[in-house]
Amino acid sequence: MEESEPYEDLINPLPTVPFGGSPPPLHQYKGFWFRKQTIQGLLATHDHFVPLPTDVLLCSFQKTGTTWLKSLLFSIINRHLKDSLLSINPHFLIPSLELTMYTDGKPQSPLFIEKTSSSCRILSTHLPYQLLPPSVKDSDCKIVYITRNPKDFIVSFWHFMVSNKHHHPVSLEEAVDGICTGVLPGGPYFNHVLGYWKERLEGPSKRVFFLTYEDLKRNTAGHVRRLGEFLGCPFGVDDENEVDEIVRICSFDTMRNVEVNKDEKLLGAMGKSISLVPFSLKSLFRKGEVGDHENYLSQEMIECIDKVAKEKLSGSGLNLG
Ligand code: A3P
Repeated sequence: MEESEPYEDLINPLPTVPFGGSPPPLHQYKGFWFRKQTIQGLLATHDHFVPLPTDVLLCSFQKTGTTWLKSLLFSIINRHLKDSLLSINPHFLIPSLELTMYTDGKPQSPLFIEKTSSSCRILSTHLPYQLLPPSVKDSDCKIVYITRNPKDFIVSFWHFMVSNKHHHPVSLEEAVDGICTGVLPGGPYFNHVLGYWKERLEGPSKRVFFLTYEDLKRNTAGHVRRLGEFLGCPFGVDDENEVDEIVRICSFDTMRNVEVNKDEKLLGAMGKSISLVPFSLKSLFRKGEVGDHENYLSQEMIECIDKVAKEKLSGSGLNLG
């Protein structure tokens, strides 16, 4: 007898659309589009994850600066361990709820997290605020959200899809269509951003730290200090060297040149959980610039994204450029 897939009774009846002209399709779950594996992870997270009040949750849409922010949060909280980033990929130091901790529809054994000695757990998720487990929404854990100019995001996303052997490639036109219609993995992009933005404005004060890739680029050291304060581990006036060292270790140039981040053959040394990570770590460090969309998007594509951004973000007080 064939073994049933996790949560198949819930997932099979969901509306489904193809994405990028080849399988697997996207399924619509409570207003958002996901691959089947993500919904399995989401549902398992809802069923099993127990947040601690001291947890720090890094939330983001994919390709908006997650890897960079993981490095920064890890080294801000575990200052004495920041050199770990020179030998371990940030995704192994900070696991994702739905992609690594509860993948396959069930809890997985911990990754590298047990090797850190921080006073709090740092976890990440690409889930929208609207679909975080109620246990997380009701907890005191802190949320750090990063977002990005939607045009740079879509260019980064498209490169990721075409360069990654674990994904079926999509054309740039299909990717742009996805951000404009909302139908792309994890989308609608703007609903994701607005969920966290609304919580930042209306939720308990000091619960959500909301930042953009562009602001982080403009003043990385300033944000390292602000994040330290937000997380309850502030830097003193004399800690300038410490802050600069964190900025340096987490910088694009340092991270891209770390052996383990650039050579896929070394990944085998990172532990048995590698098979659970559905992407190549190498492809996470591409260009690391603001405004790269100008090199790829036609005027028509730019106008389409700008129009949707204006409509969606109107009245929110948020401008993503
Ligand atoms: P580009 O494709 O524009 O270069 P994520 O980590 O959410 O997948 O986001 C990936 C994007 O962040 C990629 O953008 C990647 O190059 C960039 N990135 C990764 N590490 C970075 C770092 N240390 N500093 C700045 N940008 C970084």
